[in-house]
Amino acid sequence: MKFVRFIMKNAALANVPHHIEHFSKFSPSPLSMKQFLDFAIASVGYQIFSNQRCFLAGSTNACEKTSFVFLRQELPVRLSNIMKEINLLPKRLLTTPSVQMVQSWYIQSLMEILEFLEKSPEDQSALQEFVDALVNIRNRHNDVVPTMAQGVIEYKEVFGQDPVTNQNIQYFLDRFYMSRISIRMLINQHTLVFDGATNPVHPNTIGSIDPHCQVADVVKDAYESAKMLCYQYYLNSPELELQELNTNNRKQPISIVYVPSHLYHMLFELFKNAMRATIENNKEGSGLPPIQVMVAVGGEDLTIKMSDCGGGVPFRKMENLFSYMYSTAPTPQVDEKQRAPLAGFGYGLPISRLYAKYFQGDLQLYSMEGHGTDAVIHLKALSTDSVERLPVFNKTARRNYELTHGADDWCVPSREPLDLAVFRLAK
Ligand SMILES: Nc1ncnc2c1ncn2[C@@H]1O[C@H](COP(=O)(O)OP(=O)(O)OP(=O)(O)O)[C@@H](O)[C@H]1O
Ligand SMILES: [Mg+2]
Repeated sequence: MKFVRFIMKNAALANVPHHIEHFSKFSPSPLSMKQFLDFAIASVGYQIFSNQRCFLAGSTNACEKTSFVFLRQELPVRLSNIMKEINLLPKRLLTTPSVQMVQSWYIQSLMEILEFLEKSPEDQSALQEFVDALVNIRNRHNDVVPTMAQGVIEYKEVFGQDPVTNQNIQYFLDRFYMSRISIRMLINQHTLVFDGATNPVHPNTIGSIDPHCQVADVVKDAYESAKMLCYQYYLNSPELELQELNTNNRKQPISIVYVPSHLYHMLFELFKNAMRATIENNKEGSGLPPIQVMVAVGGEDLTIKMSDCGGGVPFRKMENLFSYMYSTAPTPQVDEKQRAPLAGFGYGLPISRLYAKYFQGDLQLYSMEGHGTDAVIHLKALSTDSVERLPVFNKTARRNYELTHGADDWCVPSREPLDLAVFRLAK
């Protein structure tokens, strides 16, 4: 029996490249926040009346079937699109043990989802097995970010860095992590909506989306968590000054249809950075300047600005802050028995920017060296504008991996001052 299973598994593995080829020919289908929400509300028969959810006997099962049929096609499409790009990484990075491990997780998960292509949506046990399979897949991929980061470190240690590879890796990781965020979003929505239980931490969320996400509350939560960490490390922490400007309704707190965990992630990372800079750049005993946060909403945008007086960053270094290959922190070592570490990889800003971009927003840093930094999160205020931003594998994407480093088409100033005497006309 074991032998038969072994043969079948190998046969399935041999078919993987064909499946990847097939599914990568489809473009991923981006969903809007409104679609995520409408679908989830319809599917469980929830109605929202002033923040209260009432369960109506409804069409749960019909929608679970629709979601099942959508996901068993869409997940392989998103997985295969990004798997094509993994294969285009520089060979020496692709063959590191860490990247090989990540690749094997993707293959395994793809195969597990493909098993559901032959199952009928009318089969109740298949629907339950699908939810279980998705939970397994989500757990399998928990450590993808630090494992991939470890692969990059392994590569850097052996082969050093060069501008072309840096650019390839930056391009790839931005797309790879964005794809991962989107796949987790789909998996979370399906498993949370169809397991029937409410989220004990956020009872008003629908799946992972809060239709009335109060931004100031998330700011305060993220501040408190960062403050606790900061205290453990420095025995001190700056205060928070929070201001809201709701141009649509000045008396109401600002709220948005959003994924609170995404917003929290971005704010927590920004607070950690702002606190560290504030403490390290202000002398002991002089009193710490507060971190100021301003939340504003207009007709189109919801913007959150976090300002610190942490001394800022020189303009020349600004671009590096979002690079996966650049970190001022010492390289963390991964112990095989422990979970891979993330802190100190220098991934706080680049991953937070991906979360902002995922629903068509952005995250930007403006710095005044000698004074401090403003970090600005731009989000779409309307749920119809918050549409997933997804990478697609096509000729343009492929071309980005084939870039070679030609000569610079801008002059590079010499470090030595020009000796104009050479050019003086002989008398
Ligand atoms: N508000 C800020 N003021 C000054 N420097 C900053 C600020 N925010 C970020 N930086 C600089 O940008 C670098 C990158 O920040 P990022 O959050 O991506 O990584 P990190 O903080 O080094 O590590 P981690 O992955 O733990 O967040 C920081 O190391 C720091 O040098
Ligand atoms: Mg950080």
